[in-house]
Amino acid sequence: MPWPADPDTEVFDLIDQELERQNTSLQLIASENFTSPAVMQATGSVLTNKYSEGYPGKRYYGGNDVVDQVEDLARQRACSLFGADHANVQPHSGANANMGVYLALLEPGDTVLGLSLDHGGHLTHGSPVNASGQLYHFVAYGVTESDERIDYDQMRDLALQHRPKLIVAGATAYPRVIEPEPIRQIADEVGARVLFDAAHIAGLIAGGAHPNPVPYSDVVTFTTHKTLRGPRGGCIVCTDELAKPIDKAMFPGFQGGPLEHAIAAKAVAFREAAMPEFSVYAHQVVANSRALAAGLGSEGFRLVSGGTDNHMSLVDLRSFDADLTGKDAQVLLDRAGITLNKNTIPDDPRSPFVTSGLRIGTPAVTTQGMAEPEMAQVAELLARALRHRDDDALIAEVRADVATLCSKFVPYGS
Ligand SMILES: Cc1ncc(COP(=O)(O)O)c(C=O)c1O
Repeated sequence: MPWPADPDTEVFDLIDQELERQNTSLQLIASENFTSPAVMQATGSVLTNKYSEGYPGKRYYGGNDVVDQVEDLARQRACSLFGADHANVQPHSGANANMGVYLALLEPGDTVLGLSLDHGGHLTHGSPVNASGQLYHFVAYGVTESDERIDYDQMRDLALQHRPKLIVAGATAYPRVIEPEPIRQIADEVGARVLFDAAHIAGLIAGGAHPNPVPYSDVVTFTTHKTLRGPRGGCIVCTDELAKPIDKAMFPGFQGGPLEHAIAAKAVAFREAAMPEFSVYAHQVVANSRALAAGLGSEGFRLVSGGTDNHMSLVDLRSFDADLTGKDAQVLLDRAGITLNKNTIPDDPRSPFVTSGLRIGTPAVTTQGMAEPEMAQVAELLARALRHRDDDALIAEVRADVATLCSKFVPYGS
């Protein structure tokens, strides 16, 4: 069949609408970013046509000479970016990277320590609705009640009590630095391995704005599409000792053919992240996050843990308005052109579908060039919309102000 001559307007109209949405509203979801045109070009390349089961030099099908070079480049760049011995660039996502590591290091039923979901951990860190929680025996550590930071004493107590085979560090909703060194010490005390899931902070690590967990971990997983600003996907870096079991677990253990177009785009992103400008970007992400947190604090929101060290804030809405839920705030802010997500706060009295909090991130707005003065504006816009949430005219006014702000920082202009 020849390729259709008529354009698929149904799909491409929708893509145009999404481009318009991204260009004209504020993207404050902490796990999102704007990728470069080069990353998108690689993602949309002919590499999508190629089947490449296996690894460079050891493929099941022919015709992989070029693909081998692409994947090798991606692996080398990942290793050099994070100072790692070995990289597997094939995980289709962060969740797949974590499941691949579990398959490599654990037997079903083995005990693992992970950060409680209620305190910022990820579904793949042992949630009962996720395969990780169904296949392995996860025991949860949490944050302290007093300062809402990771409770390393509790982690040690639980490790001594449960003798886990693996300790999982990393979070999806935690606004502070995660120290890799004490986790290594605890793991060594009980003979456990360390998986540091850097899904959120990989870009901050690459840019030197956060400590690198690689020297203290057996395995580090991350997503390439969050602070790292690459294509959607996952990656694993590990010690030489674990290279074989990790590769075997990813393929043929867990996944089929790799997405070589995405792997090429990961290689592009790793090169970009190694540039001096990316370090400036990573530090600005954190500076913006702190400025936004300060602005939100002065508008009456309580910040979980009192502030932020990374690209996100967790906001407790109850100090601003005891009746306002995260769910309602998210819907309302969407109408005002401010995109973010509801999130539980530690020991949230409300369910994860309702929540008392919001998670607010700065990776995308920083990519489009916003800095501290704009963060003060964003805090004011957000508070104004929530304060006048029953007033449609005022919500429309905030929406217009958001559009004016975004028009000065268009991510994908012509
Ligand atoms: C800590 C952490 N690990 C893993 C993942 C999973 O990544 P993906 O959505 O690419 O599967 C996420 C995603 O938010 C995450 O925050």
